Amino acid sequence: MDQAQGQPWAFVCVGILFGIVIFRWNINPLNDIPTAGRFSSSTWLSYLAALSFIRRGRETLQEGYRQYYGSAFKVALLDRWMVIISGPKMIEDIRRRPEDELSFTETVQTLLQYKYTVGRKMQDDPYHVVVVKEKLQNRLLPNVMPSLIEEVPPTVQKYMPVTDHEWTSVDVLAAALKVVARTSNRVFVGSPLCLNEEYNDVSVQFAVEIVKAGTVLFLFPDILKPIAAPIVSKVRRTTERALRHLRPIIQERRTAMQELGTDWPDKPEDVLQWIMDKAVAKQESDADIVERLLLLNLAAIHTSSSSITHVLYHLAEQPELLGPLREEIEASIETEGWTMSSFARMWKLDSLLRESQRYNGFTLASMMRIAMKDIVLANGMFIPKGTLLGAAAHPTHYDNGRLPNAEIFEPFRFARMREANGSEGSARLQFASTSSEYIAFGHGQLACPGRHFAANQLKAVLSYIILNYDFKLPETEDCCSRPQRPPNVYVSLAVLPPIGGTIQLRKRAVC
Ligand code: HEM
Repeated sequence: MDQAQGQPWAFVCVGILFGIVIFRWNINPLNDIPTAGRFSSSTWLSYLAALSFIRRGRETLQEGYRQYYGSAFKVALLDRWMVIISGPKMIEDIRRRPEDELSFTETVQTLLQYKYTVGRKMQDDPYHVVVVKEKLQNRLLPNVMPSLIEEVPPTVQKYMPVTDHEWTSVDVLAAALKVVARTSNRVFVGSPLCLNEEYNDVSVQFAVEIVKAGTVLFLFPDILKPIAAPIVSKVRRTTERALRHLRPIIQERRTAMQELGTDWPDKPEDVLQWIMDKAVAKQESDADIVERLLLLNLAAIHTSSSSITHVLYHLAEQPELLGPLREEIEASIETEGWTMSSFARMWKLDSLLRESQRYNGFTLASMMRIAMKDIVLANGMFIPKGTLLGAAAHPTHYDNGRLPNAEIFEPFRFARMREANGSEGSARLQFASTSSEYIAFGHGQLACPGRHFAANQLKAVLSYIILNYDFKLPETEDCCSRPQRPPNVYVSLAVLPPIGGTIQLRKRAVC
């Protein structure tokens, strides 16, 4: 067949393909859900909308929230639409749905591509999450908090070194990561491994590698992912590095479990042991145990270090907060010592943490779920199987209708509200208490199971820093205006504290 004869067929094929694409666009049930953001007028421009969302995620969610509050809208991500819901009725609706309708596990797998980096086992049987729910719940935290509290002073002194009078510049996020990694690992793997710099770095790096690999694999078609994964992902290599440190400890504990059974007098009380208690019965390998431990590090370290970083920036920006905080911390510690009961009395510090989490946050959307079957939402909207959903966390937290002056950072607002409410109504305003108005930890059954641990860890670290350091922001060229903390970085749905930003610290001046 010569070239001229072949051309009509080529046109027919292109025409058919074009028709199929238009047909699929038109029958896509998500077309009925309004779109927010730039290029929202046409579904055809969704790639431009997705590119715009990377830089304008915050503004896009805000626009959608304003227009479709109490209902849902969609935003374009690079590979899919995401449906964003808002308002108490819709949040309640998501909260109540069981995992076989709206799945959190499936969301994590999809967004981080677990299947290709850590394997399906971690997704199919995520019992390490159960360990956090069972063992790091409020009632049992007093078993592990004393060791964490003991770890705080040497850790902070090491990673935030200061002299008596000189101001020292500290990279806030880098220091917070080190402090959170070591103090968390005191509870995750115990001492002396938590003192090992290389191990702590691996536990931080694992999260970085898993997010990096997940992001790159996301861009490959499914069929190529198993081939691409070993090339682009350093997750296995990072696990092996951690395994080198953990194997001797795991082996020793396996032997103890064989010889002494399920319980013995000085049995370690840490996350590693709690995972092993379940893993040994399931005959899991050392590598599986380490992977589960690192997945929990992933959930714990970057979230909590981001919280510490934001609070330290706010304190450096408003050093006048230190006086009332110190007064409260000193009074609590004088009465209750360095204990959880003491932290529970620190309403101002708790309020500062909650306000900072509300104002800054870790992600713009929370309660992310993938529909495991076709469902109809409380507002009657049809959501087809496979759709990614989430709640508009940032706009909810900035809604003046639900919290007066929501756009203003008022560090002690929740302490004041708690005092006004009396002890009965005050519990729901704590840092770790979720509601349809405060969804930084999600809300309901699947809300972050580590949030009570995080609250106590953050209070232990911050109260030590507040009592022992003075803060300020670096001087700026403009000597007349008060220095402001550097702005957060918004990338798609992620909220990052300023990376590489510094504050000035010195030993607290005793007047
Ligand atoms: C300020 C610190 C933290 C923040 C802001 C945070 C936030 C969150 C959020 C938003 C979720 C998803 C909830 C949902 O979609 O409904 C989550 C889940 C989770 N978090 Fe946290 N988290 C923090 C600290 C921690 C810590 C310290 C741990 C462990 C000790 C932890 C362990 C987990 C786990 C295991 C899950 C998954 C729950 C599941 O699969 O059901 N988190 N966290």
